[in-house]
Amino acid sequence: LNERIPHDKSLDNSLALIQEGYLFISNRVERYHSDIFEARLMGQNVICMSGAEAAKIFYDDEKFQRKGAAPKRVQKTLFGQNAIQSMDGEEHIHRKLLFMSLMTPPKQDRLAKLVLEQWMACIPEWEQAEQIVLLEEAKDILCRVACQWAGVPIEETEVKERADDFISMIYAFGAVGPQHWKGRRARTRTENWIREIIENVRNESIKAEHGSALHEMAFHKKLDGNQLDAQMAAIELINVLRPIVAIATFITYAALALQEHPEYQSILEVEDENNYERFAQEVRRYYPFGPFVGARVRKGFIWKDCKFKEGMLVLLDLYGTNHDVRLWDNPNQFRPERFKEWKGSLFDFIPQGGGDPAKGHRCPGEGITVEVMKVSLNFLVNKIEFEVPNQDMNYSLDEMPTLPKSGFIMSDIKRK
Ligand code: HEM
Repeated sequence: LNERIPHDKSLDNSLALIQEGYLFISNRVERYHSDIFEARLMGQNVICMSGAEAAKIFYDDEKFQRKGAAPKRVQKTLFGQNAIQSMDGEEHIHRKLLFMSLMTPPKQDRLAKLVLEQWMACIPEWEQAEQIVLLEEAKDILCRVACQWAGVPIEETEVKERADDFISMIYAFGAVGPQHWKGRRARTRTENWIREIIENVRNESIKAEHGSALHEMAFHKKLDGNQLDAQMAAIELINVLRPIVAIATFITYAALALQEHPEYQSILEVEDENNYERFAQEVRRYYPFGPFVGARVRKGFIWKDCKFKEGMLVLLDLYGTNHDVRLWDNPNQFRPERFKEWKGSLFDFIPQGGGDPAKGHRCPGEGITVEVMKVSLNFLVNKIEFEVPNQDMNYSLDEMPTLPKSGFIMSDIKRK
């Protein structure tokens, strides 16, 4: 046991983690007045930490590795087995550059344009409908667009089921029981679907455009000069498609934010990039999505009087760092203007991980996420008018993952 840092007294905190959800780490950081504490989780001693300094240590790859960090149950639903999230060192960097090359600003723009086109195409049908659920519409649109953008052929009739499978994989994280198994079945179905497409690209029965995610994953060479096996290529292509569908979550929160803070409506009616950017950033900071990330100690070291023993699991609090009072004034207030002053540190604003994405595990999809959120906000504010009927929009911080219950219902939709 570490003598010098607080220890949570409970024999095992797994239940508390489920019950306290997004606040599990920050509740204890507050209780112990310490950025770092040790707890027993899932039958092992785990170091939990929060804040920018902790993030800086966590993303030092001399100190941490990802191999063996993600539990199998997460790999079998959310990530895919032995994929980029679990890689280290040169092999990881090599794989990461492949992902980064698919997400350059021109590629972000192309995706955002496709998303806006799809939103616009929904209007006639929505005008006829009594009401729509934004989360549902967003996931289908994003699935259709993600496939189109990545070069993956998809029939209109399969969009909804494939989108539901992506969502089941995403929301299986943290889940036990039926929701976990649903996530597993969704992953198996999706891997089978995408693996067959990769094989067909390789035997030239499907054409893939140079530079598309499909083409680049199908023909990527590892450091040893060999291609990925078809299964792994499929898993990594899914690591591009699935998180694009996940942006539906932030779009739903963005609509909720507009509803809760109607004063931003008129600010966003003026089509100023900066205002969209700040609003999107504040949605990513304020609302809960990724709770924490985990890594294992690569080589023992001491930090802040705490012994990090080789092999130990360490969790970095993403949600808590984004609400850390030392980093954010009134963190529990939704205030996009705060991003006017934000200095762009790599370690204080970490909804999608911290550090340099090209050198570590930080999400390569932040540019895509923000651009898709911006066009979607523009659509909601400037392209349509709608009513928001009575509904339960609450989301709870003690459920992981969480979402506004109603998925955000809109009615009386009209083109503006
Ligand atoms: C990694 C969050 C969107 C692709 C991550 C990580 C988080 C995250 C927390 C882990 C960081 C770490 O391990 O240190 C999110 C959220 C998103 C999102 C909340 C919003 C919907 C995207 C998009 C893409 C993407 C749009 C790609 C199109 C990836 C990949 C990784 C990753 C490939 C693994 C990176 C690595 O291990 O090196 N994301 N992400 N994500 N994300 Fe995202």
